[in-house]
Amino acid sequence: MKKEQTGNGRRDSFYITTPIYYTNDNLHIGHTYTTVAADAIARFRRLQGLDTFFLTGTDEHGQKVQRRAEASGKDPKAFVDAIVVRIKDLWAKLGISYDDFIRTTDPTHERVVQQIFEKILAKGDIYKAEYEGWYCTGCEAFFTETQYKDLGGRCPDHDTPFERLREESYFFRLGKYADRLLRHIETHPDFIQPVSRRNEIVSFIKQGLEDLCVSRTTFSWGIPIPSDPKHVIYVWFDALSNYITAIGYLTDEEKFRRYWPADVHLIGKEITRFHCIIWPIILMALDLPLPKKVFGHGWLQLESGKMSKSRGNVVDPLVLIDKYGVDAVRYYLLREVPFGADGYYTEDALVLRTNVDLANDLGNLLSRTTAMINQAFGGRIPEPGPVEAIDRELPDLAKIVLDEVQKAIDDLEISTALAALWKLIDRSNKYIDETSPWALARDEKTRGRAGTVLYNLAETLRILGVALTPFLLEAPREIWKQLGLDGDVTKSTWADAVEWGKLPPGTNVRRGAPLFPRIDTKTEAGKEEPKPEVPAAPAAPALISIDEFRKLDLRVARVLTAERVAGADKLLRLEIQVGEEKRQIVAGIAKHYAPEELAGKQIVVVANLQPAKIRGLESNGMLLAASTEDGTQLGLVAPERPIPPGSRVK
Ligand code: MSP
Repeated sequence: MKKEQTGNGRRDSFYITTPIYYTNDNLHIGHTYTTVAADAIARFRRLQGLDTFFLTGTDEHGQKVQRRAEASGKDPKAFVDAIVVRIKDLWAKLGISYDDFIRTTDPTHERVVQQIFEKILAKGDIYKAEYEGWYCTGCEAFFTETQYKDLGGRCPDHDTPFERLREESYFFRLGKYADRLLRHIETHPDFIQPVSRRNEIVSFIKQGLEDLCVSRTTFSWGIPIPSDPKHVIYVWFDALSNYITAIGYLTDEEKFRRYWPADVHLIGKEITRFHCIIWPIILMALDLPLPKKVFGHGWLQLESGKMSKSRGNVVDPLVLIDKYGVDAVRYYLLREVPFGADGYYTEDALVLRTNVDLANDLGNLLSRTTAMINQAFGGRIPEPGPVEAIDRELPDLAKIVLDEVQKAIDDLEISTALAALWKLIDRSNKYIDETSPWALARDEKTRGRAGTVLYNLAETLRILGVALTPFLLEAPREIWKQLGLDGDVTKSTWADAVEWGKLPPGTNVRRGAPLFPRIDTKTEAGKEEPKPEVPAAPAAPALISIDEFRKLDLRVARVLTAERVAGADKLLRLEIQVGEEKRQIVAGIAKHYAPEELAGKQIVVVANLQPAKIRGLESNGMLLAASTEDGTQLGLVAPERPIPPGSRVK
C-alpha cells in the first residue's frame, strides 16, 4: 500500500493485477481461479477504504491467435473481439469488480509499448542479431538445446513438437541485470511468494541468464517496432508492459505515480519466470521501481490431469454458475484450496461445500436467528438484557476473527480468512444450542437474557454480512435484507464490521427464503451425497460418558397435526408442540403411521438437532422411534403415561 500526496490530502492506494488472459479460446474454471482471488482481495482493500485499482484484461497478439483466426476464416481483430465479449460476460457473471480491462490491442497500449521498446533500444539494452533456436508457439518462447534434448523435442505443457526458428531478431540483455535482480530478491523477501517459487527463480538466475529474443518476423499479428516495422515485438514483452500502460505510464504521470509500484501481481505458477525475471528486468531498464510482490498460486487440476482443451477435460464456469449460483462457485474457489498450493477440482467437493458450509452453517444460522426473533419477540430485534459469561464469547471471538481475516488477507491466505469467519459461524450455532433462547424467552424471569442472546446472534450476522462482501456477492445482501437493515451492505466499511453493537434494536427482521437451498444430490446428480473428508475415525467407543449423553436435549412433544408430504411416500410433516414452542418436523414414518392416528399423540424428540431441509421443508428436530433391522416394523417412542410437552427425557 502506498501513501500518496494528492489534491485530497494523503490517500492510501492499492494496486492489484491478474495476468491478462489469452484470447485464443474460452476460459475454464482454472482461469477463473486467479481472477476470483484477485477480486476478493481488491474488494477487501476497498472495504478497508483503500484507493484500490484492480486491473485485468486480455493478451491478444501472437502467432497462435493469428493461426486460430486464419483457421476460422476471420481477421485476427474480429476473432479476438468475439472472445473478449465472452470473457467480459464471464467476469460479469462472477461479479469481477475490475477497475480497468486492458486489451493489448488498445491503441494507447500499443503506442506506449512501442515507446518502451525504443527507450530500451536507445539505451543499448536491446540490440539486433541473428538467432536460431527451438520454439514453442503455445508458450511463445524459445527453448535451449539442453531443454530440447531433455524434453524429447516436445513441449510438456502443450504436448506439441518444438519448431526450429531462424530469424534476425532483437535481443534484450537480461544477463546485464542478473546480479541486481538477485540482490533485489535477496533483500526483498516478500517480492516472490510463496517461498518455493522464490527458490526456483533464484536457482534459475544463478545458472546464468541468456539474452532474450524480443522480436519476431515470422508473423505480423503484433506490435511493430517503429524503427524497424517488419519486426513485431515479442508477445511477452508486449503483454507484461500492460501492468504500467494501463495506469498511465508515459500518458498520465499522476495516475502512474499514485499506483506504481503494484502491490501485487497475482499469477499462476507456470508464468512465474516471465514475471520474476523478464518483467523486473524491463522495469530496471526503464529505471522504474519493481512491484512489491509477485504471488504465483498453484493450479486447479482435475484428477485426469491439467485442464486443457486438447485433453478435452475443461470445466466450464458458466455451467457451474447456472447450476449452483455465483456464490457457491466463488466460495468453492476461494475456500477449497489453500492459495498457493495445487488442488483438485471436483463437482462433488463444490456441492459438499455448498451444502455444509453455506446452506447448513451460514444459512441455518440466519434462518434460526430470524425465526426465533419472530417467535419470541414478534420479529423485532430485542434490546440486549442481562449478560452472562458465555454471552461475551461472541463479541470477543468476532474481534479475534476479524483480526485473523485481515492478517490472512495481508498474507494472501484467502482460504484461511474464510476458515476464520466460519469459526465465528460455528460458534454462533453452538451458542444457540448452549443457551436455548426459545426456552429463555418463555419465562418472564429469563426473557431479558433471551434478548441478549438473540441480539448477539443478529449482531454477529450483521458483522458477517459486512465481512463476507469481499468473498460472496448475493449472500451478504440477503443477510442484510433478512436482518431488516436498509441501505447497501457493499457500501459498508471494515470499521462497520469491527464495531460491535451497530445493529439497532427494534429493527424488524424479514424472514425470507433459505440463504442457500440445499442441493439435493440424490435427485440432482443421481447419486448419494459425498461424505465430508475426515481423517479415518477411530473405532467407535462402546461406552459414552454421561456428559456426552447430556448433550442430547430429548423432550416430550405433542403432535398437533400430521400430513403426507407430496411426492414422498415415506415422509410425514408434523406440527408438534414442545413446551410453549411449536415446531415443524419431517419424519420418515409414513409407511407405519397414518396421519390421522398421530394427532394428539405424545412422542419424544431430539430438540437440539441442527435444522435440516428435507424435500424443501424445514425439519426442526427428530422424533425417536424403534425399528427392526430390516425396517419392516416401527414403533414411536413415547412416555409411558401422559406428561406435559416440553418435559426433559433423561
Ligand atoms: N497471457 C498470459 C499471461 C500474460 S500476463 C502479462 C497467460 N494467460 S492464460 O490465459 O493462459 O492464463 C491466465 C491465468 O490463468 C494465469 O494466471 C494462469 O496460471 C491461470 N490458469 C490457467 N489455468 C489454470 C488452472 N488450471 N488452475 C489455476 N490457474 C490457472 O498465461
